[in-house]
Amino acid sequence: FDLKDNNTMGVRAKARYFASVTSADELRQLLLQREYKVIPKLMLGGGSNILFVNDFEGLVIHLNIKGREILEENNKEVLFKVGAGENWHETVKYAVDNGWGGIENLSLIPGSVGAAPIQNIGAYGVELEDVFESLEAVDLDTGISKTFDKSSCEFGYRDSVFKNEFKGKYIITQVTLRLQKDPEVNTTYGALSKHLEEKGISNPGIKDISETVISIRQSKLPDPAKIGNTGSFFKNPVISSETFEELQKEYPKIPNYPAGEEVKIPAAWLIDQCGWKGKQIGDAGVHKVHALVIVNYGNATGAEIIELAEKIRHSVFEKFGVKLIPEVNIV
Ligand code: EPU
Repeated sequence: FDLKDNNTMGVRAKARYFASVTSADELRQLLLQREYKVIPKLMLGGGSNILFVNDFEGLVIHLNIKGREILEENNKEVLFKVGAGENWHETVKYAVDNGWGGIENLSLIPGSVGAAPIQNIGAYGVELEDVFESLEAVDLDTGISKTFDKSSCEFGYRDSVFKNEFKGKYIITQVTLRLQKDPEVNTTYGALSKHLEEKGISNPGIKDISETVISIRQSKLPDPAKIGNTGSFFKNPVISSETFEELQKEYPKIPNYPAGEEVKIPAAWLIDQCGWKGKQIGDAGVHKVHALVIVNYGNATGAEIIELAEKIRHSVFEKFGVKLIPEVNIV
């Protein structure tokens, strides 16, 4: 099975088997089939955070579980349950159109609802964990469904238990969000407040936030439907404040954000300073507008993308002594 159309980087890779499921029951039946029990399995949502370097010698399961349901509501809040296979941005639009606040800052993030908790998607001052209530997931070995509340997901920056202890052990089938009917908007992210100000919006509602985030993203990030990419390729490194102070002596303009006791540095800035923006090796390139996005101009292979990423990591380490860690899942 050819995976080229199932990953937004648009690289060629093959899966030995491929199955699409539309419900938790269908998924359970598939997992319990004898021929699939012992082979490796890989879950795929929108394929927007994955880079295939090799063919996958196992079963790729495409989560196509749809559905939206209000579990509970009062005049303040709504508990909104969404199928893992729903498109994330469509879900944001639905919430914004209904006047439910909480995820408008996460507008236009590519991918599916089921993938959102795995890396605790975040943008413009909000992370999924801020609105997360619970999720349902199926155990790959037993086929049994389990509910995870917020604390058992162990959310962190672009991180959760599903990237660590339970990596490859559960398949998320449903996600429940707690959204607000009388929402308070979050304009703490610098680029967001700046854009709102430029547009002359002094008292923004969730629709204004969503529209502004969409225009910022469209101006900076390439549309995966037009040019292959997986958004940010690396995480923003978090370094100790001592290391940061050393760096700041040498580079007084280094952008930075507090991260608890530590300091977060934009990887884009580090990469940009090394002169990578707009560079291209074959069909693999660093986006012309945003240095944190690696793009596929057509026929780059996963291996070529990795090679470019390695060169970038190497030069950032040489210049700043900072190690970049990929944000995408490499298979
Ligand atoms: N910058 C540069 N050169 C560039 C681009 C940016 O120097 O080419 C510097 C600027 O100083 C800028 C700073 O980097 O102020 C931060 O840039 P930006 O606001 O675009 O955010 P980011 O840190 O690069 C993170 C997330 C994005 C998310 C934005 C907005 C990570 C790894 N990435 O990017 O998430 O949309 O913030 O909140 O945390 C993703 O995960 O795929 C993703 C796109």
